[in-house]
Amino acid sequence: MVKAKKYIVQKQFDGLPKSTDLTIVEEELPPVTDGEFLAEAVYLSVDPYMRAMSDSVPIGETFLGTQVAEITQSKNSDYPVGKHTVAPFGWRTHTLSTGGPFPIGLPKAWIIPDPEGLPLSFYLGVLGMTGNTAYFGFLEICKPKPGETVVVSGAAGAVGSIVGQIAKIKGCKVIGIAGSEEKGKWLVNDLNFDNFINYKDPKFKEKLEELTPKGVDCYFDNVGGQISSEVLHRMNKHGRISVCGSISTYNDKEVKGGYAEMGGFGVTLLVLAGVVQSDIVSKQLKMEGFMVYQWWDRWMEGIEQNKKWIKEGKLKCSETVTKGFENTLKAFVDMLQGGNTGKAIVQI
Ligand SMILES: NC(=O)c1ccc[n+]([C@@H]2O[C@H](COP(=O)([O-])OP(=O)(O)OC[C@H]3O[C@@H](n4cnc5c(N)ncnc54)[C@H](OP(=O)(O)O)[C@@H]3O)[C@@H](O)[C@H]2O)c1
Repeated sequence: MVKAKKYIVQKQFDGLPKSTDLTIVEEELPPVTDGEFLAEAVYLSVDPYMRAMSDSVPIGETFLGTQVAEITQSKNSDYPVGKHTVAPFGWRTHTLSTGGPFPIGLPKAWIIPDPEGLPLSFYLGVLGMTGNTAYFGFLEICKPKPGETVVVSGAAGAVGSIVGQIAKIKGCKVIGIAGSEEKGKWLVNDLNFDNFINYKDPKFKEKLEELTPKGVDCYFDNVGGQISSEVLHRMNKHGRISVCGSISTYNDKEVKGGYAEMGGFGVTLLVLAGVVQSDIVSKQLKMEGFMVYQWWDRWMEGIEQNKKWIKEGKLKCSETVTKGFENTLKAFVDMLQGGNTGKAIVQI
């Protein structure tokens, strides 16, 4: 009899998640039946969307998330013993599954092809959901051209760090926005970004103007809020904005209503999101949101391309790895507060 450990929801999050909001419980799993397989978690992913979607998990249910797991028993020929799968099993150590379909997020458990010497954890990051978010979300929506200026927020995180490097591969000038000088220096010195802005710098707006003298052609938005309002004001005519996420609001108890600050009339006005429309209209901008699984039918294309760039030395990836299933909630909260550089991962 296999015993699984799992995190169940004790209390819905209120602001930043607390250690008492989730509890670890044990569960005895029944034997594998026809069509099923048993998978043992090797790495868990902790991602911002889990905070944004946490209210969809009822009290007492397993908390949501994707993992890399080894298939240890199987009565399903699509999921053979010894292979590793990427699957949305939630925060749990052992899982009995048929492989999907799943209602939220990753539609189906998929088998990792020959990892070719790359770490299995990459399949939760650059060779998985966040890498494909960068690849498709940036290239399909921003359609960057060589020489254009690209701004990326959340730039030192899992998605942003890959977007900026893809933009460099495509011949763009890239400015990353991140939450510390240390992260910014990493973007420039290690990842080849042209420059960075620390969004906590009180002179953020002035720095943005200084570093984008020709304006901004493409903005990849991971954070929303005031940072994004400032970038929108810098957009050039026919600029493209890929709206990936809005992490600056995920822990807010109330939505602040899309306020954006606008100056220029002798006073500073606080106006509703209408100011966004005014930039969009006057500069004929294209602003598009997306969900990465809309490209599920092209999933392996993104993975193969990112793998190729890694092997050519054009794409670097960093991970912040926390050890121990018991530390998953802590790793999640750390990531929400900027404790990660690159992809936040938990090693079981
Ligand atoms: N649309 C999709 O299909 C899709 C798919 C994947 C991810 N996403 C979105 O993409 C974004 C990035 O996800 P990720 O997985 O790459 O996470 P991540 O960037 O690796 O981690 C989250 C980062 O957000 C930053 N952050 C936290 N609070 C912030 C605030 N108030 N203002 C600005 N930055 C803040 C922190 O970095 P700092 O130290 O720089 O603050 C933190 O490291 C999220 O919004 C996520 O929801 C969307």
